[in-house]
Amino acid sequence: MSFREVHEPVSSREMPDGVAMQPREFDFTDVESIPQYWNLSNPVLTHIENAFSILIPPGEQFFIQSVRYYRDRVTDPEVLGLIKAFVQQEDLHGRAHHVYNATIANFGIDVAREESYAASVFAKLQRRLPRKIQLGVTVFSEHLTAVGAHTLLDDPEAIHEMDPQMLEFWRWHAAEELEHKSVAFDLFHRVGGGYVTRMVAMATAVATLGIPMVKIVRRMMKEDPLPITKADRDEARAVQAKIMKRQIKLLIAYLRPGFHPWDIDDTELLEGWYSDPVPGAALGVQREPAPTGS
Ligand SMILES: [Fe+2]
Ligand SMILES: [Fe+2]
Repeated sequence: MSFREVHEPVSSREMPDGVAMQPREFDFTDVESIPQYWNLSNPVLTHIENAFSILIPPGEQFFIQSVRYYRDRVTDPEVLGLIKAFVQQEDLHGRAHHVYNATIANFGIDVAREESYAASVFAKLQRRLPRKIQLGVTVFSEHLTAVGAHTLLDDPEAIHEMDPQMLEFWRWHAAEELEHKSVAFDLFHRVGGGYVTRMVAMATAVATLGIPMVKIVRRMMKEDPLPITKADRDEARAVQAKIMKRQIKLLIAYLRPGFHPWDIDDTELLEGWYSDPVPGAALGVQREPAPTGS
């Protein structure tokens, strides 16, 4: 058992039938046993995902805060329920990633340094950006994570490519990203965010978060005590090109003025995850009934 439902599920008329936001707590079966190169046994591809994982805990806190700035402008209890579940889900994601991130130190990476660098990146954004742009950065980041989530849950090959614990971990995070993918977007529009602001915030997010991500990956590759070969780099490039080919249409959809996250209907992918959170039940995982109360 690697996750359990810890709060009440929340749904709304704005979400597709059969989809609800259910905050779940994730526990690794044995986090210390996760292999160094858990992603296709490739160091480059693993460092990229690990760098993303380092940015997630402070990133999720930034997203939560950007939404909280506007919470008191909402009076609809249903929308307030969605915001609460969004905060619960993102907070639990950050905690689980923090647990995993600590283990990367076993492989020669200065995790404390990277975590404090990542925290400083988001603290700077919080200090310098207007609040509406901060919410727009969250909206764009939620689109990126939803596209990544879609790609992972729609990939039958992932079971052969990732360590089983990491596959279950990322699939759990992916499913919850899909469940809450429109919460920040709908709030942004509710509080007067328009197309131009959404685009400015997107450009801001790319400019301010892309470079830190590359910096972390580069430092991790440099510090890796094992040599990274040309074959590793070539394979990573080929895999990334394949992923980009699958994602490009979904990413570009964000540029449409009338775009809404649920234009990309992920209901089937979510239903697939609800019925089979671990493909093939490779870890013998069973879901337990949700506790009553919250
Ligand atoms: Fe998340
Ligand atoms: Fe999210």
